[in-house]
Order: sequence, then C-alpha cells, then structure tokens
Amino acid sequence: MTEGTPGDASERRPIPQPPGPPVWSPADQAWLVTRHADVAALLRDPAFDAANPADGIRRLTARTDPEARHLAGLLDGMAIFQNGATHAAVRPILKDYVAGVASQWPAVAIEALVAETLAPLAAGTTVDAVAAIADAVPNTMAARGLGLPVADVARLRAMGQEIATIWRPLPPLREARRLEPVAAAVRALLAEAPRTDGRLPLAGTDAVPLADMEFFIITAVVETTASALGNAIDLLARRPHLQDRLRAEPGLMAGFVEEALRLAGPAARLNPRIATARREIGGQVFETGTAVVAVLESAHRDPLAFPDPETLQLDRRGPPLLAFGGGVHACLGARLARAEMAITLQRLVERFRLAPRAEPARRRASRDMLAFERLPIALS
Ligand code: HEM
Repeated sequence: MTEGTPGDASERRPIPQPPGPPVWSPADQAWLVTRHADVAALLRDPAFDAANPADGIRRLTARTDPEARHLAGLLDGMAIFQNGATHAAVRPILKDYVAGVASQWPAVAIEALVAETLAPLAAGTTVDAVAAIADAVPNTMAARGLGLPVADVARLRAMGQEIATIWRPLPPLREARRLEPVAAAVRALLAEAPRTDGRLPLAGTDAVPLADMEFFIITAVVETTASALGNAIDLLARRPHLQDRLRAEPGLMAGFVEEALRLAGPAARLNPRIATARREIGGQVFETGTAVVAVLESAHRDPLAFPDPETLQLDRRGPPLLAFGGGVHACLGARLARAEMAITLQRLVERFRLAPRAEPARRRASRDMLAFERLPIALS
C-alpha cells in the first residue's frame, strides 16, 4: 500500500544529516546520532542525562545579571530537561495530569470539538490550516485542562516559541537578557490569568512551581501536537489519491498517522543528552560529559529500519517509531496525540478535498522542530 514518494521539492525538506555512524557537529558541540538502532540505544540508556539549557544560562548571567532568574527557573521546570530526584518527583504528577486530560477527552468529546472546529470552514475557500485546525484543536484541549482562556494558551505558546530559541549550546548573553522579561511575563500571566471551571488538578513540587509545570504542558505538549497535525495536513493535501482512500477506508487512518509521524514528526531532533559514564553507541565511544543529540528525522529515514524510507506506506511494519522519544523521558501523551490526530484528519478528509495553494506555506525557522507557521490549503 504505497502512497508514493513525497510529492514536489517544496515538500522535501532536505534531511541535514543522512543516517550513518555518529558524527561530531561543531555547531552543536555534540555528537549527532542518526541511525534508528543507535537512537533507540541512546534513549534507553540511563547513563545519559538530559542536558538542561538553564545551566548554561546561569553560567552566562551569574556575574553580570544575577537577577536573571525567571528564564533559568522556567527552563528548570521543563520535564524534558530534568534528571534525578527532580524528574522523579515531576513525572508522576504529569502522568496523573495526562490521565486527567484523557478522561476529559474521550473519543466522543474529541469528535465534538473537531466538528465544532470544522463547522465554520466552507468548500470553495482557502484556509490557513495551522490557525483554523492544527492550532485550534490542541489549544482548546489544553485550555480546558488548565482552566485558561484559549487566547492565553495561544499567547503562552508564542512566548514559548521565543524562549525555545535559546535551547542551544553557548547562547549569547544578549539573548538571555532579551528573553528574561519574556520568561517573567509567562510566570506573571500564569499566576494572574482568570481560571475557568473544570481545571484539572495539578500541583508544583518543592523544585518546580506550579506555573512552570503549566508552561511545560503548553510548550512541549500543545506545541508538538499542533505541529504534528499541521505537518500531516500538508502531507495529505499533496496526495489526492490518499485522501480518497482514507475517505473510503477509515480503518487505514491509523497507518497514515504513523507514517505522518515518521516522515514529518514535529521533533526533528531531541534535546541533547550528556553521558554520565563512558559509553559506546554505533561504534563510537562517548566519554563522560560528552553531549549527544538524537536526530529523529534521520533515524526515521534509516533504510535498515524502514526499507524504501521516503515512500509513505499505510501498512508499513517496522521497529517502533521514535517520534515520541523513549526511555525515562518517553512521551506520556502518545496515545492521546494519536487519537487526536486520527479523529481530526479523518473528519477533515470526510468533509473536504484538500489541495496545496500556490501561495507559499511558511515553515517555522527552527532546526529542532518541524512545523508550519502558515499552511494555506484550498478546500473543495
Ligand atoms: C504528536 C504529538 C506529540 C509528539 C510528537 C510528542 C513527542 C514527545 C517527545 C519526543 C518527548 C520526549 C522529549 C525528549 O526525550 O527529549 C515528549 C515528552 C513528553 N510528552 Fe509528548 N508529544 C506529543 C504529544 C503529547 C501530548 C498530547 C501530551 C499530553 C497530553 C504529551 C505529554 C508529554 C510529557 C508529559 C512529556 C515529558 C516526559 C518527561 O520528560 O518525563 N505529549 N513528547
């Protein structure tokens, strides 16, 4: 059940790093791990800690800007940057929260939200699929769980995208200074925003204030789902024949969601890991203290794991996808995200034929996240 290679040149974002043995990246000051088996081994090895960009920011600002504490504090609150006791305390809280979201959003509730989201869209028009669909569904789901107005979730996401630009080695001091007031504004907004009923229980810990926990949920959780939906809509819009098949055989949608996550999963690269002991992966020895980056977009095109990797195959069998990470930081919302994607995309193809527009889509300028900022789609 091959649905063809990615369509035209504008779809094919060149993979910066083809799958192969680990390679040193001077720009990242890290080794890049690109083969599926190597990435899986890296993620499951407890000898690798998650790097925390807050450490670098503290070193950078300690002498000149000792008050620059909001930015580092906010980053400390991101579960994906945590290790040891802090992460062990935070993960069960997030697990309970995600269970709460799942019970707030059974399939019928997601169906109703999707129907409401698609209702104002009309055949014969062009929509920005990011704003109208891909952002709208996950923003509303997150807003309900956190008891926030949807507009605040959208504002917090925008601030999160700005703050994410500093998740890199050796950020300049002026960037940290520029982002400190943004981080302060995030915390103030979360502390002061009016809350609606139905907010799910969520607590902070001794190390992580509640507002920082909420910010993580918005940036990591909503951002990934919205980006995954946008990327999948783009893949669909370029394949009219695939839309016909999914319309006729809804049972194939789960296979499409997997392939969309493989070919266009939002996390192109994961946050670096730091070896806490000497380790060997893929024939390369990593000494203690070495930074290693899992490049998911390369591993998902590893022909040893996924033969003929550029073709979209609805019945593809293969090793587990890495789109949701793995090991101690493995995504807690994978099941919910898959359900959200499958329902939204199914109802979308049932209601409309989708086609790309001549006016260009705009991709987010990020090396780590694969996402659209704007995705004009013609509906008929
Ligand atoms: C298609 C959508 C999604 C994708 C591709 C995705 C991907 C990921 C990835 C790759 C990680 C691990 C990052 C790392 O190891 O550096 C992660 C972590 C996480 N995800 Fe997701 N995610 C998605 C949706 C969701 C949803 C809907 C939820 C909850 C409702 C969620 C909750 C979490 C949490 C709580 C973590 C942190 C785990 C930890 O650090 O212990 N995700 N996600």
